[in-house]
Amino acid sequence: MYNVAIVGATGNVGRKFLEILEERDFKINKLYLFASKRSAGTTLIFKGKEVLVEETCLDNIKNKKIDFALFSAGGDVSLKFAPIFSSYGAVVIDNSSAWRMDKNVPLVVPEVNPEDIKWHNGIIANPNCSTIQAMLPLKVLLDNYGIKRIVYSTYQAVSGAGVQGILDLKDGINGILPKKFPYPIAGNCLPHIDVFLENGYTKEEIKMIDETKKILHNKDLKITATAVRVPVLNSHSESINVELSNEYKLEDVIKLFKNTNGLTVYDNLDELKYPTPLLVSGEDNIFVGRIRRDFSIENGLNLWVVGDNIRKGAALNAVQIAELLTK
Ligand code: A2P
Repeated sequence: MYNVAIVGATGNVGRKFLEILEERDFKINKLYLFASKRSAGTTLIFKGKEVLVEETCLDNIKNKKIDFALFSAGGDVSLKFAPIFSSYGAVVIDNSSAWRMDKNVPLVVPEVNPEDIKWHNGIIANPNCSTIQAMLPLKVLLDNYGIKRIVYSTYQAVSGAGVQGILDLKDGINGILPKKFPYPIAGNCLPHIDVFLENGYTKEEIKMIDETKKILHNKDLKITATAVRVPVLNSHSESINVELSNEYKLEDVIKLFKNTNGLTVYDNLDELKYPTPLLVSGEDNIFVGRIRRDFSIENGLNLWVVGDNIRKGAALNAVQIAELLTK
């Protein structure tokens, strides 16, 4: 039995942590919920019982003997509090981008690079939601055929932008101006997720590029990305165009995907079967469809990959990392 803390418990991902810990019957002795001062004193329900939300501060952390701290309260909170939790003996599994590229912090998708949890120093990073879902098919392709180049184009749901992201879509339908996004998201697409960098990319796009190389242990991969926010409530979709190093047969790729833990092949054009955000929301697996040859290059392959960004893209992946640690 473990003492588990959730930091950012009142947020989108925080609430999903609660749901998934309950669903998977994670062996919890004591559950501690943390958020900002604003939410301190409120309660959330876990397994039918009310649990108090506490302010995230040193006094509330020490003496609790926390084994696992699941963080999703933004980068600044992670930067400040992850080292504090870990200094009191907890393993922090952090959903923010604060620690992902730190060379002392493993970045883990349990189906893809479980071996990396072994070298943690108290903090393990959960990859970006868009990166996580791409890793399942790409790892299989890398291992079996090698990869020369990846082109990511994402269609990302508003739930990835937190509680206010969802409100902006719902309010926007009634003509209310957005608070989180710079332009209305209802009836719109914004090629802008996270901040713009000097090279013209967004930080989200660079996260996908850098994190892919780190998780797949391959610095030489050529990768480009365009990340787009779309008026979808939940689940990210991605077009992934891959140039493989070696020849492949489509039926072999499909067979390999079907045998991959965590991946569901949903691809039957006669029956109009292809993954969509509405289909995949609430699912643990990543869904892949529209699997087809890219005729414009040698060994090119196109995939359409959809994943629940709050489940596998965030909370579920973090809980799976904690489960790995208990084994
Ligand atoms: P709170 O609800 O008290 O503001 P989301 O990204 O879905 O909006 O969720 C953000 C989460 O991070 C919430 O649980 C939020 O708590 C929490 N949070 C925000 N600022 C802080 C802070 N300074 N310290 C601790 N938790 C914070």
